[in-house]
Amino acid sequence: MIPPRLIYKPGRLKILDQRLLPHKIAYITASSAAETAAAIKDMALRGAPLIGCAAAYGMVLELERQKPEDRRQKLEVRNKELDSAAAAAKKTLETAGITLKSARPTAVALFYAVDRMLSKADLLLDKHPFNYTHFLAALRAEAGLITSEDKTACLRMGSLGAGLLRKNSVVLTHCNAGALATMGIGTALGVITRAHALKKIKHAYSSETRPYLQGARLTIWELVRGGVPSELITDNMAAHIIKTCGVNAVIVGADRIAANGDTANKIGTYGLAVLARYHGIPFYVIAPTPTIDLKLKDGSLIKIEERSSDEVTFINGRRSAPKGVKARHPAFDVTPAGLITALVTEKGIIRPVNRKNIAEQLSK
Ligand code: MRU
Repeated sequence: MIPPRLIYKPGRLKILDQRLLPHKIAYITASSAAETAAAIKDMALRGAPLIGCAAAYGMVLELERQKPEDRRQKLEVRNKELDSAAAAAKKTLETAGITLKSARPTAVALFYAVDRMLSKADLLLDKHPFNYTHFLAALRAEAGLITSEDKTACLRMGSLGAGLLRKNSVVLTHCNAGALATMGIGTALGVITRAHALKKIKHAYSSETRPYLQGARLTIWELVRGGVPSELITDNMAAHIIKTCGVNAVIVGADRIAANGDTANKIGTYGLAVLARYHGIPFYVIAPTPTIDLKLKDGSLIKIEERSSDEVTFINGRRSAPKGVKARHPAFDVTPAGLITALVTEKGIIRPVNRKNIAEQLSK
């Protein structure tokens, strides 16, 4: 079993510190939106759906921190005061939303969760009289719903994706799109573990995912714990392994998918899609529908996070490149829709991946 990634209790959110994995299972505690945003930014937690769930609870935490005089719970207060309490709650959530949205730019799940919490708040604020206790309970419930929807979506995608794989599959995955990236069984890794349970997986390869090593620290750990026959490879081994080891599918998650299907995922994903096409093997993207950003007409509009170059020039806190060297660290890349064999969401399988088929599935 993979340890719980987030544990919410009123006033605090315990976050499994993924920076310490696989060596140590330890939690940090956030008690505000700012602390939640810092945990997302510093990658104590990571993975698109998990970031979204944490952000939703970050909004709740901020509401819980509101000063008692701003809450005005008593229903006997006059309408004017009730209005000011509602305004204070709205302001608190909007400010929390801005803080959380600034944590990381690429995974749209973060923006989806914050906007959904704000929409829920707006709906409730339209209703009179405002009651802080009821308002808070409803927003806690909304954060819980975002989380449970993620779990359900993972299970559904796991089954649909496993159905695409044949017996004796040899698969390759990149980064970590497992339980550690979600509140459920994971997206790409959920497909692999589900297919393993159906005895369809002969072997799984996890690429180490330089520079942050999500594959080496997290994915292979999940695969081993799940009893999936697997091996770790470095990123630059992928072409050789695909050519010589019978890899017959590449399966990845996604951080943001544009309306035409262009897909942002961990840096290195695009290269794997090109390799898959060259070798004539399917390249599957597994992602829940909140990952699809219909506002963006194509992948050129996806904002790619550029992280600190220290993550490239240092390994385990030790410099690995000469002092003063400049390094690039785009954390994601964009795979053109045309290289994606199928996109699996909780609503079904989209194939071919194009604007029309995506719009059609989302309208269901
Ligand atoms: O930088 P990270 O570790 O947050 O990047 C994670 C990925 O790229 C995952 O593949 C993606 O978020 C999908 S997770 C279900």
